[in-house]
Amino acid sequence: MSVWTIVVAAGSGERFGGPKQLMALGGRRVLDYALAAAAETSDGVVVVVPADADWDLGGAVRSVAGGATRSESVRCGLAAVPDECDVVVVHDAARPLADAALFRSVIDAVRAGADAAVPGRAIADTVKRVEGDVVVGTEPRESLVTVQTPQAFRASVLRAAHGAEPEGTDDAAVVEAIGGRVVVVGGPRDNLKITEPEDLARAEALIRERELRA
Ligand code: C5P
Repeated sequence: MSVWTIVVAAGSGERFGGPKQLMALGGRRVLDYALAAAAETSDGVVVVVPADADWDLGGAVRSVAGGATRSESVRCGLAAVPDECDVVVVHDAARPLADAALFRSVIDAVRAGADAAVPGRAIADTVKRVEGDVVVGTEPRESLVTVQTPQAFRASVLRAAHGAEPEGTDDAAVVEAIGGRVVVVGGPRDNLKITEPEDLARAEALIRERELRA
């Protein structure tokens, strides 16, 4: 089964205050971690970059310009994945702590028969629904998980799910919307998404810890 990974890196980093993908992290750029894990586990890699980007991505990856939303950027990437590909992984460049083992666990779940597989974590906090600053309900957290990337998909299912150009905050959501079977694999606690400037310092500390353990 051939596997391609789409690394989405075309966001403007509004909450971060600039393009976080190129920030220095542990002696590399944030983006380089996603590229390395993708290259180690996939037959090919497509990187989706901002339209005006002139980034050095090395020779081994295909790069395409993204769109106005994350879902549009994924569709731009999907158009550059070869037709004969069986499994497509979608990963946010903003998650540099996702390693090759995590990529393999979502890919294996799709190989084993799921339409899609996502890393998920149980919720430790109690979850409330609010209107403004007023609590209007409490969600049953036993049936809730928070999910991360990389997310793996049967390629035909992901293409079908994106056919009607839907919008979602992840790709599992668009697959769920067409009735696809999405399974959850264990998501690591440290697979953080760099959203705000202080997340970079946390990622740096986690990477240093990992290097010490290796
Ligand atoms: O906005 P959000 O934090 O959900 O973005 C997640 C990932 O999607 C980031 O890696 C970002 O670069 C990417 N993205 C994109 N195109 C957009 C918006 C976000 O590739 N238009």
